[in-house]
Amino acid sequence: MHGYDWLAPFYDTLARVVVGKQIQQMQLPMLRHLHDRKKLLVLGGGTGWILPHIFRVNPNLVIHYVDSSEKMIARARSNAHGNKSIQFIQGTETAISTNDYDAVLTYFYLDMFAPAQLTTLITKLKNHLVKEARWLVCDFESQTRMHRIKVQVMYLFFRIVTGLRTNTLPAWYCVLTQSGCIVLEDAYSADRFIRSAVFRVNIT
Ligand SMILES: C[S@@+](CC[C@H](N)C(=O)[O-])C[C@H]1O[C@@H](n2cnc3c(N)ncnc32)[C@H](O)[C@@H]1O
Repeated sequence: MHGYDWLAPFYDTLARVVVGKQIQQMQLPMLRHLHDRKKLLVLGGGTGWILPHIFRVNPNLVIHYVDSSEKMIARARSNAHGNKSIQFIQGTETAISTNDYDAVLTYFYLDMFAPAQLTTLITKLKNHLVKEARWLVCDFESQTRMHRIKVQVMYLFFRIVTGLRTNTLPAWYCVLTQSGCIVLEDAYSADRFIRSAVFRVNIT
């Protein structure tokens, strides 16, 4: 069984217990950047608890929702409440077949890639986006000794449960800005463990 399939029934509760309410509170305000978007790619979307919030911001958005776990996709489908403008794709970033997204949302997704892989991944994902697309990211940042300990415990947990190979938080913010993405909004949680940012993607 895919490790995330096993986690799916209690993933959201676990995240809230371990990281706190801020894990969801940091994701929601950035969604307003989707209000004028047409087509959104969600990568590693998980249970899809966020979908009703996205529809509220922009009911006309077409969404392609990619997740490698069958059980996560099943939960997301139920959280979409029959909305017809969303297409569910069980697979990874390699399953993306179109290149006309004007927004991409990667919440707690980039942290699953080793630092050495991230630049290549971001370059590949940019190929699926149009000029001036928006990229919404929310993920961990490790700034203190306590953060580093928490991050190590989390990576160990995900290694055991899901077989995750990496054990290092990549510098996702730097990689995105170095790849030409322009920061439109940037926010930290109170303990600075979670960072949310919205970028305008430069396609050269
Ligand atoms: C840490 S969870 C984050 C879920 C959600 N974005 C959230 O913030 O609650 C990562 C999700 O990505 C999925 N996943 C793992 N590797 C993936 C990949 N390479 N491509 C797409 N989804 C992936 C997992 O099944 C899981 O649902």
